[in-house]
Amino acid sequence: MLVNTVEMFKKAYAGKYAIGAFNVNNMELVQGIIEACIELRSPVILQASAGAIKYAGLTNIIALTKAAQEDSKKFIKGGLPIALNLDHGDSFESCKLCIDSGFTSIMIDASHYDFAKNVELTKKVVDYARRVGGKNPSKPKYISVEAELGRLAGIEDNIDVSEADSAFTDPREVSEFVKQTGVDSLAIAIGTSHGAFKFKGEPKLRYDILEQIQSLVPGFPLVLHGASSVPQKYLDIITKYGGDVSGARGVPEALLKKATSLGVSKINIDSDLRMAFTAGIREFTAQNPSNFDPRSYLKHAREYVKELVKDKILNVLGSDNKV
Ligand code: G3H
Ligand code: 13P
Ligand code: ZN
Repeated sequence: MLVNTVEMFKKAYAGKYAIGAFNVNNMELVQGIIEACIELRSPVILQASAGAIKYAGLTNIIALTKAAQEDSKKFIKGGLPIALNLDHGDSFESCKLCIDSGFTSIMIDASHYDFAKNVELTKKVVDYARRVGGKNPSKPKYISVEAELGRLAGIEDNIDVSEADSAFTDPREVSEFVKQTGVDSLAIAIGTSHGAFKFKGEPKLRYDILEQIQSLVPGFPLVLHGASSVPQKYLDIITKYGGDVSGARGVPEALLKKATSLGVSKINIDSDLRMAFTAGIREFTAQNPSNFDPRSYLKHAREYVKELVKDKILNVLGSDNKV
């Protein structure tokens, strides 16, 4: 059975580690991520964006996640704790559909609206989630809801949010937002951004904002989107085998570790998975030009995804041996 994120975040906050939330679009991504989590005994959130749902189909995303949880029972008693989260839900209807279909966690992203409208739409989703899943966070059918306050720069659902349109989270709004909406976790903007081209100058995060938010809502689960690091290894492989990702730059792992130590409970990673996957396919197909069996190159890509996720668990999240 899939779980919600409440228990995961409670334990993560107490243990000063973070839960990795990895974006999935196909079977190999799910398998690579879950194999890494089983091996290192790490709880995990798999998440699907609107684009992922459009690509793979809602039924497939849910079935793949449930199958992974079921398979994990061969290795871990009761199976791996896996939550399935809608990433950046952009309307009440898209959130409702995922709630009705079996997602255990929903993100409503109304961060591009003003405060009042963000509260209104977020609360509408929370109310619906409570109607379907009940109000008791310790019950398995409870559905967790994440919202966003502040606005990240970068690519979201193929829309480029310019730096001018991005905004750091205003700590003064946080308590009121949490109180008025009843959300379970909150994505904050402290300098990360979506996509693989994050910083032109020195990478910097606004820990002062994070610390202020922490002091205002101590223990409340905070989420960092746009947290890929763009590992050099995969950049080099992609470049070596004909790709062009020049200028790609992520958040250094040390900066993410510091954010975790300051109380961030969920770290979102998508771009790094794409890089690892693409590196695997480019490398395999370049080195084996006569092989045209998709299982061969997808297997190599899946291995790189697994390697990447293990690195995240050990060097960024600290979520190993928590199951
Ligand atoms: O935050 C955005 C995620 O990286 C999802 O990207 O909309 O292209 O699936 P996507
Ligand atoms: P990255 O683009 O840094 O991987 O961020 C992913 C994300 O925030 C998904 O919601
Ligand atoms: Zn995001």
